[in-house]
Amino acid sequence: MSFSPAVVIAKKRDGESLTADEIHTFIQAYTLGNIPDYQMSALAMAIYWRSMSTDETAALTEAMLESGIVLDWPDDGRAVVDKHSTGGIGDKVSLLLAPLLACSHCRNPMISGRGLGATGGTLDKLESIPGFRTNLDVDEITQVTGQIGCVITGASARIAPADKKLYALRDVTATVPSIPLITASIMSKKLAEGLDALVLDVKFGSGSFMKELSSAHALAQSLVSTGERMGVRTTALLTDMNQPLGRMVGNAVEVDETIAALQGNGPADLIEVTLELGAELLTSAGTESTVQQARQRLQGHLDSGRAFEKFQAMVAAQGGDLNAPRPVAECHELRASQTGWLQAVDAEAIGQVLIEYGGGRKVMSDAVDHSVGLEMRARIGDQVEQGALLARVFAHPNAYQRTQDSLQAAFSISAEPAPPLPLIVEHITTP
Ligand code: URA
Repeated sequence: MSFSPAVVIAKKRDGESLTADEIHTFIQAYTLGNIPDYQMSALAMAIYWRSMSTDETAALTEAMLESGIVLDWPDDGRAVVDKHSTGGIGDKVSLLLAPLLACSHCRNPMISGRGLGATGGTLDKLESIPGFRTNLDVDEITQVTGQIGCVITGASARIAPADKKLYALRDVTATVPSIPLITASIMSKKLAEGLDALVLDVKFGSGSFMKELSSAHALAQSLVSTGERMGVRTTALLTDMNQPLGRMVGNAVEVDETIAALQGNGPADLIEVTLELGAELLTSAGTESTVQQARQRLQGHLDSGRAFEKFQAMVAAQGGDLNAPRPVAECHELRASQTGWLQAVDAEAIGQVLIEYGGGRKVMSDAVDHSVGLEMRARIGDQVEQGALLARVFAHPNAYQRTQDSLQAAFSISAEPAPPLPLIVEHITTP
């Protein structure tokens, strides 16, 4: 019987499961332009409402992965590993972790993205380094990873092209927040790196995509079971994103904070999440036998300065000049309006204010101002006096004036003591 896209859409609309063949044929035809956007949108909406089983999600991931190439690596005992974060405010873990993994006898070909919603993008941060190139082709990705051990770049057009098309469509058809669609989108790009092991940093809270712990948990399980099913050792950590990670939020200032951390002066929360993700990955890749040993090894690369040297080598290999100035906008001080305890931070509101300053994009074609940012000077649970410094804000003066009230409102101070929040709440392995 000939293949009918409308029949497949109707099956999903009515809550029936699709076969792997139906999914593969649909995605292949869509990638080649033989199924129009309106039929793909209809299927995406049916998936949004009816969801997908683990089998269907794995078939969708595989079909999207097979729409492009998979990177190929020499079989020389060096594990190919990566970390993916679902995105947060001030999340600069990738910048630290890639050189740490490269120091640990692994290959880390990290294919990263730009800002999504209020969250910053790794590529935008790195582009605040003058000359840094994030558009490497597949040969350059292989060459830099081979030479240095790590690379951080954008997805080439040859990696999961089906996702590129489908993601753009989901963005304008209100079908982004669907666990099977998010899973297939993330995993098709990550698995195209030709990985042995993957760790996922699934964030929950005010500054993340998943506001509730329960939805972050469901997403993490879907990502882990899909990765495992496709032969890649996959684990996930659920980490708190109810306040920015580290102190700095913004592009140039996050690179500054990364360099400080690589030189031994990193904030405790950033170092904790980085080491735990790295240790999880080295253990599941079999490079280290226990998480404890892996943490010690990674800490050693930080303490010895080796990780910083790797970062410098990676930046140089990608054309960046770390000695060239990275301008930072004028500094303003945001102070507490009352005495009490910092109870909550609206991290998403902080991300939105930075977009307002030009530090992120409202539409994909917007240019990014790398000089704007914010430094958190208080964390949830801290006692603050009226007039105490809550944040230093790097912004052009008029923009700061316009947003001062929104920033003030992003910090909730209560008369009652507020406990600090746990940072890493769960490790997820195959369900
Ligand atoms: N990130 C992705 O790459 N895809 C999604 O669908 C959501 C987040």
